[in-house]
Amino acid sequence: MLLPGWSVAVAEAAENAARLLIEPKPGLAPLAGAEAPSVPIWGYGGHVPGPVIRVKRGSTIRARLKNSLDQPTTVHWHGIRIDNAMDGVAGLTQDAIRPGETFDYTFTVPDAGTFWYHPHNRSWEQVARGLYGLLIVDEDIPPAVDRDIPFIADDWLLGKDGKIDERSMGHFGQWTHGGRLGNWLTVNGLTDPEIPVLAGERIRLRLVNSANARILAFDFGELRTQILALDGQPVEKTEFLSGGITLAPAQRADLIIDIVGKAGSKIPVMEVSTRDRIKAAQFVISEKPPLRNAPPAEPAILEANTLLRPPKTDGAQHIDLVMEGGAMGGLSQGTIDGKTLTIQELVDKKLVWAFNGALGMQKEPLARIKRGRTAVINMVNRTAFPHAMHLHGYHFRVVERGGKPVYGAPWRDTELVDVDEQVRIAFIAENPGKWLFHCHMLEHTAAGMVTWIDVA
Ligand code: C2O
Ligand code: CU
Repeated sequence: MLLPGWSVAVAEAAENAARLLIEPKPGLAPLAGAEAPSVPIWGYGGHVPGPVIRVKRGSTIRARLKNSLDQPTTVHWHGIRIDNAMDGVAGLTQDAIRPGETFDYTFTVPDAGTFWYHPHNRSWEQVARGLYGLLIVDEDIPPAVDRDIPFIADDWLLGKDGKIDERSMGHFGQWTHGGRLGNWLTVNGLTDPEIPVLAGERIRLRLVNSANARILAFDFGELRTQILALDGQPVEKTEFLSGGITLAPAQRADLIIDIVGKAGSKIPVMEVSTRDRIKAAQFVISEKPPLRNAPPAEPAILEANTLLRPPKTDGAQHIDLVMEGGAMGGLSQGTIDGKTLTIQELVDKKLVWAFNGALGMQKEPLARIKRGRTAVINMVNRTAFPHAMHLHGYHFRVVERGGKPVYGAPWRDTELVDVDEQVRIAFIAENPGKWLFHCHMLEHTAAGMVTWIDVA
């Protein structure tokens, strides 16, 4: 049987194709396994994950959001260097779409790679309930693989009744700590799913961490695993995994895995971010004859997305971003639109995390950047928690970490900044518009860790 997550609902988005329908709505999902009762979720088309949208690089996607939820929503196309008006950020690039209403998204996709889509209104609730899907943009010359497999990992918080623990949503204690961490791991909406493969096959696995807040890490054991791309952008050097790969919320990785093993055997994929190693999924090698006797000797090759230009930091605009607050963060006051509030007044508004002393979305951007200029953002984490910083509309490069220069770092759209860490990122501000910059631990976003830049 083809599992729903593996069968790719290809949505053609050619110039003259009909609009894709993206319909968030309630549904039922077998999250806790086939024997357990289905769990009420919210999903695109009522499914979790939502349909895979798959197009060629450079195509135009036309998607109609039809809101069949009972609260306003939007769609954000995470990682796409998109036209700003289509970025889907409620309150910044558009108004949230009310229940029963529609909104048409039309945009082109300049980069090939693995991206995803999710709501950008009450994301802490809507993503947690299952609203997300994969967006695959195919290369002009894709790497030679036998099979292309999505691997969307999520961390659910289920109650004793096996249903989504709703009472904990918006729970302030979680907002001030590491966010709403779950107790149930799924891959493609399933518990420990079996991924059918052939011996000798070379597969491309597209990993996404769609969890609200949990940093995940996956270990493929003995299998030779090449890192092909991170956050949708090809890595420059041939690199193999040793140990697990860590994915902060919203980060992606494309891996090339050569399947080696006996017919009928099972190879586990372990989640190793905590001391309890959890089986996340397993490859099941078919009884059929192997596809080849030995894995291909040569690594896979993926050409860079040509539109990315490496930033030069001389003459750059320097921007500081100091993260403060949260539990054990010692914040005593903060500002909203220049007005100082006590921590108690801020807590009453459920705001506890600050960027440069300001909490939550401000009228003024973090920085105004002239289009085409290189921007360097120096992030300093003075909180007791790591943060997964995501910049909309761009990919950036880490150029310094802990005071030491970093060369040849991968392009990313989301970077983990650890406790007490300092990280400097750089990018050329080529894409005009109002771009959100926030922690992708969605409870942290909601509780203050959000700002924006204005490129004009
Ligand atoms: Cu994945 Cu601001 O979003
Ligand atoms: Cu955070």
